[in-house]
Amino acid sequence: MSLLDVRGLGVAVPAPGAAGRDWRTLVDGVDLAIGAGESLGLVGESGSGKSMTARALLGLTPPGARITGDVVFDGRSVTGMSGRELRALRARRIAMVFQDPRAHINPVRSVGDFLTEAMVLELGRTPADAEARAVRLLADVGIPDGARRLRQYPHELSGGLLQRVMIASVLAVEPDLILADEPTTALDVTTQSEVMAILDELRRERGTAMLLITHDLALAAATCDRLAVMYAGRIVETQTSTALTATPRHPYTSGLMLSRPSIDIVVHRLPVIPGRPVAAYESGDGCAFEPRCAHAEAPCRERRPDVQELSGARVACVRAGELTLQGDA
Ligand SMILES: Nc1ncnc2c1ncn2[C@@H]1O[C@H](COP(=O)(O)OP(=O)(O)O)[C@@H](O)[C@H]1O
Ligand SMILES: [Mg+2]
Repeated sequence: MSLLDVRGLGVAVPAPGAAGRDWRTLVDGVDLAIGAGESLGLVGESGSGKSMTARALLGLTPPGARITGDVVFDGRSVTGMSGRELRALRARRIAMVFQDPRAHINPVRSVGDFLTEAMVLELGRTPADAEARAVRLLADVGIPDGARRLRQYPHELSGGLLQRVMIASVLAVEPDLILADEPTTALDVTTQSEVMAILDELRRERGTAMLLITHDLALAAATCDRLAVMYAGRIVETQTSTALTATPRHPYTSGLMLSRPSIDIVVHRLPVIPGRPVAAYESGDGCAFEPRCAHAEAPCRERRPDVQELSGARVACVRAGELTLQGDA
């Protein structure tokens, strides 16, 4: 059994001004599974519904949202949990790393207070014990002078350091699953790879599972065991990272891979996906990617493609079986 099992997850919010009569679908029939200690990358362009999916896993959807399907964590349905049970789940078992640590760390409290609070409240450690452990955790994330850092305030730390503090705070509660939503997007390029490497190394050592949310397919492929590609609120392709980069099965996946800027190619390749991404509620009856797809044919406009199994891949494209798409050749 998986640690996390997401089945047919849907999130819809009332359309503005419609007083609950019209719904906007943001996440549509998402299936995901993450085993204990496994890492899954959830990849897609901005607006595809990645963050909303993560929020739904923790019961953090906007007020008035309609949730369908089921989220099962360690054998228990999250969708049926009370507010109190959800808070306990978020405090101990599923921890989140956000894109902008500054928005999630109280600016008027010291780094020490931030790091020790959960250890004292949730794990029942004494303040002195929690502080000693906080210093060790800071060393683990590559911050050597922990005792001094504990007395500092968030504004005294760079974005990269603060994100390491955030990672230390997540590890402090020894969660089973880390949800990392664009954890390095706000950092400069060099710091990005350092912070990602630290997060991944520490979670592997501890056997902690991870859902890594990113628009960067190359980053996700380099970090995660498996990848799920999201477009317009749906998962369009799921494969192991190795198989997906070698043999992408969905035209959108192949387009994402080919359009990313490459450091070894001086002249940037032109984006091969024309047009702009759409949200789930903006897509018509057919395949949501059809208007941007170079391989689209008449049947693609008629109905939403079902997910099919294709040599180990799960792919939602009616043409997947006949197409040979370019991967990381
Ligand atoms: N609180 C909200 N209320 C209504 N719509 C929202 C809300 N948050 C996000 N959305 C919309 O849901 C869609 C998916 O957003 P999001 O999950 O943030 O995408 P991603 O993380 O993939 O960039 C977008 O069209 C976005 O505008
Ligand atoms: Mg997002």
